[in-house]
Amino acid sequence: MTAVTIPGLDHAPTTHARLLSWVREVAELTCPDEVVWADGSQDEWNRLTAKLVDAGTFVPLKKKPNSFWAASDPTDVARVEERTFICSVDPRDAGPTNNWMDPAEMKATMTELYRGCMRGRTMYVIPFCMGPLDAEKPMLGVEITDSEYVVVSMHIMTRMGTKALARFGDDADFVQALHSIGAPLEPGQDDVPWPCNETKYITQFPEERMIWSFGSGYGGNALLGKKCYSLRIASVMARDEGWLAEHMLILKLTSPEKKAYYIAAAFPSACGKTNLAMLEPTIPGWKVETLGDDIAWMRFGEDGRLYAVNPENGFFGVAPGTDYHTNPNAMRTIEKGNSLFTNVALTDDGDVWWEGMGEPPAHLTSWKKQDWTPGGEELSSHPNSRYCTPIAQCDIKAPEWEDPKGVPISAIFFGGRRATTIPLITESRDWQHGVFMGATLSSETTAAAVGKTGVVRRDPMAMLPFIGYHAGDYFQHWIDTGKSADADKLPKIFYVNWFRRGEDKRFLWPGFGENSRVLKWAVERIEGKAAAVETPIGHVPTAAELDLEGLDAPREDVEAALGFDADEWRAEIPMIEEWFAKIGEKVPTSLRDELEALKLRLG
Ligand code: GDP
Ligand code: PGA
Ligand code: MN
Ligand code: MN
Repeated sequence: MTAVTIPGLDHAPTTHARLLSWVREVAELTCPDEVVWADGSQDEWNRLTAKLVDAGTFVPLKKKPNSFWAASDPTDVARVEERTFICSVDPRDAGPTNNWMDPAEMKATMTELYRGCMRGRTMYVIPFCMGPLDAEKPMLGVEITDSEYVVVSMHIMTRMGTKALARFGDDADFVQALHSIGAPLEPGQDDVPWPCNETKYITQFPEERMIWSFGSGYGGNALLGKKCYSLRIASVMARDEGWLAEHMLILKLTSPEKKAYYIAAAFPSACGKTNLAMLEPTIPGWKVETLGDDIAWMRFGEDGRLYAVNPENGFFGVAPGTDYHTNPNAMRTIEKGNSLFTNVALTDDGDVWWEGMGEPPAHLTSWKKQDWTPGGEELSSHPNSRYCTPIAQCDIKAPEWEDPKGVPISAIFFGGRRATTIPLITESRDWQHGVFMGATLSSETTAAAVGKTGVVRRDPMAMLPFIGYHAGDYFQHWIDTGKSADADKLPKIFYVNWFRRGEDKRFLWPGFGENSRVLKWAVERIEGKAAAVETPIGHVPTAAELDLEGLDAPREDVEAALGFDADEWRAEIPMIEEWFAKIGEKVPTSLRDELEALKLRLG
């Protein structure tokens, strides 16, 4: 049999045999017109963004340098959890919270989908590294994709191209990540601005550390270094190797006494991570700097403390609600340009606009590419519309954000979006109780995933869609992580809720920059300086214990936001029991004990 000749296939900038043979195998299956190895250069960015402008995918912005507006297919706007699979060899390893299919069957199905799927398109090979390039053991991957939108997004979100490939040598391990939008072009067929396929699969093969994605061009489904690698596959690596891969922001908080604390916080998608990561404190003398807004990899250091690294290189933030009042640091970051905006509105003078930016202009082009004027029913921007921008140009990035050693974490926050029940902040009694808080975390669903929004569900550690194995084993891994360390070196665990509401549905707590008051209380607890009330659910401050100086919010609202209500909590218990029943026999005994103890305390 003679080898197929595809332009570019034989011009690989590497001698890594396993990589070369995989690239050839994929090219022969998917039949692209051409193979291009992404180098990550400015020239490549210019070439591909120009191609995307020609294709009608991108509109260059006049008001922001080197920035582009994109509108996706209206059916391809968010992660597709229903179409996300953990194809472990044994279904018990995927557990009750993941979709599972036999790996051989999934490969057979997807191989047929991939056959010829890149016809008429270019196949890009993107070597990338999650986390700093100078890590002792760099976390490498290669994404093969037929989407230019993915290549340019990966320029921002990862360290990629020539500088990443330099770390591959001839035989380094890497995660294989295959992506196709699933939209081959017949000769002469016109392309559409956002090609994708109605059939979608986002598949992880955890044992092989491999990802196959088909049919979607949207961020979390298509930028495979992010959720697929850094959470689903990495969580399996972390279980096997004794570390944690988590859906967490990382921030540095410096007190007026110039003491620095690093805090990691896990909130479900569209529940406030990016905003908290870049917060501008409203209390004098306190400073926040950011290290990451979505993912944290945490390993124990030689000193026995837990160190966190952000594997990403960019922010992929929810646009609506972002403005100079809520998140000035995000605004200043995107103002510098070099950014992509997907599914927001376009202004007539070539800028972006979205809900939450104040008064809308008289006319916009909506994310659906329709004329839009204020006062109508439709939103100008999709609720899950996103900006994609480099961390490097964020003014408040912490200087150590790229340190491969990571930063020592003093506190972990778990939080969700709950209109009732969950106080503004609760401190756990100890690590095990904190793990219980995380394991039973609940939140209202948001537009970040396809499906109904506003439905309360359990979202353990904000990882429900991202745990690459059995959730019960994941809880045990968290318990074991605590047992493997000195209790006094472990981060303190807190449970927060910025989203509690009054009877008229208003938020009881103003949130955003005012969340610095809550961070301050947490730090004072770490320092042993602040008081709290011991309640059946943990240590909760009274309004008097929070620094509320200058806060523009009614005292009753703050008290209500902080309130512990035994009746609401008694109503919560059956939901936690139902959740544990769903996880089944793998719920760690220690967490069952925590539940029993909580029930006793609630009476
Ligand atoms: P992420 O997806 O977890 O990173 O969440 P974001 O920080 O992007 O926020 C998601 C949505 O929640 C945005 O519309 C924000 O404006 C909103 N949000 C973030 N923080 C707060 C807060 O403290 N209070 C309120 N009420 N809304 C917030
Ligand atoms: P988010 O990231 O957590 O910032 O929403 C995207 C996602 O989780 O889908
Ligand atoms: Mn996320
Ligand atoms: Mn975010």
